Amino acid sequence: MNNTGKLFGVGVGPGDPELLTIKAVRVIKEADIIFTAASPKNNYSLAVDIAKPYISTSTRVEQLFFPMTKEEKEVESAWIHNAKQIAKQLEKGKKVVFLTLGDPVTYSTFGYILKKMACIMPKADIETIPGITSFHAAAARLNRILVEGEESLLVTSGAFGGEQIRNNSGVENVAIVKAYKNIKDINKALKETGLAEKAVAVSKCGRKDEQIINDIDELASRQPDYWTLILASQ
Ligand SMILES: C[S@@+](CC[C@H](N)C(=O)[O-])C[C@H]1O[C@@H](n2cnc3c(N)ncnc32)[C@H](O)[C@@H]1O
Repeated sequence: MNNTGKLFGVGVGPGDPELLTIKAVRVIKEADIIFTAASPKNNYSLAVDIAKPYISTSTRVEQLFFPMTKEEKEVESAWIHNAKQIAKQLEKGKKVVFLTLGDPVTYSTFGYILKKMACIMPKADIETIPGITSFHAAAARLNRILVEGEESLLVTSGAFGGEQIRNNSGVENVAIVKAYKNIKDINKALKETGLAEKAVAVSKCGRKDEQIINDIDELASRQPDYWTLILASQ
């Protein structure tokens, strides 16, 4: 296969357009085509919005839709279809950028792209450009040390509640992303493991409607926004 194009997985950081790396900005400026993941229900892309100041007017921007379902077959076939869209552009020799929020190798849709590209175009030239994760940006926003000395940091998802926090009881620091729909159980687990006292939540970090919530009980009494994470430590 004559594939002279290149795919770049680019992290755009959590929201502030000044929190992209110089390399990310250059690659975005030089792109022939930019792809981003979108839900079929809502074709707005926050990643594109963040990168907008750097996207040339001549660059094509396209959304790759992924179904909001747990139906594995449907998800699989959507991602194979999406990876094929990218492969088509690489075959034409294009510089292709796939934009992701935060960092592309941290709880990111770019993971699906990497896996599917390995199947359908194993020799594709791919470069991952790291981005600032939401939890690094939140710690910086709070002037708070994430981890130091000989301590450990557990980075986990709260999508299914506080089980991972309980399973790792004793860890000095935690960063919990997707701290929204199961916030009550996350809060309970933080209390059980002695992590509640210094817990702080940050919602929409670096965006104009950013919120810092110091009272996790108050946060747990309502339905937090999807864009919420918690930093906690012993
Ligand atoms: C699918 S994960 C994406 C993580 C992203 N790749 C990263 O490196 O941070 C989505 C979760 O990241 C967190 N998140 C992303 N952006 C955020 C922001 N600006 N402020 C607070 N949390 C954010 C939220 O917990 C959200 O539920």
